[in-house]
Amino acid sequence: MTHWKRFEDCSVSEKLLDTIFLLTIGLGYLFALGHMYYSHEGRDGQAGLSVEDIKIAYYGEHQQTRLGAALNGSMAGNLEFPEQKQIIFTWIENGTDVDEFNANVAPIMSENCVACHSSESGMGLPSLTNYEEVMKLTHSDTGASIQSLVRVSHIHLFGIAFILFFVGRIFILCEMPPMVKRVMVVVPFIAILLDILSWYATKVIPGFSYVVIASGGLMGLSLAAQILLSIYQMWFYKPRVQPIEM
Ligand code: HEC
Repeated sequence: MTHWKRFEDCSVSEKLLDTIFLLTIGLGYLFALGHMYYSHEGRDGQAGLSVEDIKIAYYGEHQQTRLGAALNGSMAGNLEFPEQKQIIFTWIENGTDVDEFNANVAPIMSENCVACHSSESGMGLPSLTNYEEVMKLTHSDTGASIQSLVRVSHIHLFGIAFILFFVGRIFILCEMPPMVKRVMVVVPFIAILLDILSWYATKVIPGFSYVVIASGGLMGLSLAAQILLSIYQMWFYKPRVQPIEM
């Protein structure tokens, strides 16, 4: 019968090398979590990391322009009628057309806003007297650019494939039912592919931020399981059936 290599066949130096490698990868993963926390935390204005932060990171806040935020917030009271706000939002959503601006938006601005928002007022506020000036406040936040996603994707796929491959090579020396092992070796790869594909999906459909989080979590858990099980079996596990000494 074929004898597959197991931890009991490894020399102590091989096990030491494997252990120190797995621990270093585990520590690196913890730092990766820290990095993720600090780069996305607080995007939604609330302390801590939430699904909303992930949504904003990839999808952005399409409605949220500086002009829109002001009109939903402290500037709302300067409008004469609530419908005027809708007119401005519709103009932004329709793509900030210059003719639509002159026809519908400019009159609202000159009626309600330019008294304060012009260079003459001397208040040092962003000026709202013409199309170009207003446009500066209407660039919407569409999240991570495709260019930056492509850059991060290729780095992640190359880097993580190596990590998962080497951790997996060590993990297959464990003793366990073959089906369990086969699934456990493949799952983290599927999780990372799903995670990265769902970054792009989230850019279009914000609800995919849940998939980003779930698949990222699955990859972390399966990696942790492989590392911990390997170290445990390497040093503490005694196979139930001892090989017969010949
Ligand atoms: C009575 C004076 C006054 C009027 C009228 C006024 N604003 Fe303002 N606006 C301010 C002041 C003061 C600030 C800065 C403090 C703040 O944000 O509350 C401000 C801030 C803003 C900002 C935020 C600028 C930034 O740096 O992000 C926007 C956008 C804005 N106003 C738009 C408008 C619009 C649109 C109108 C008309 C519907 C309007 N304002 C009418 C006084 C005014």
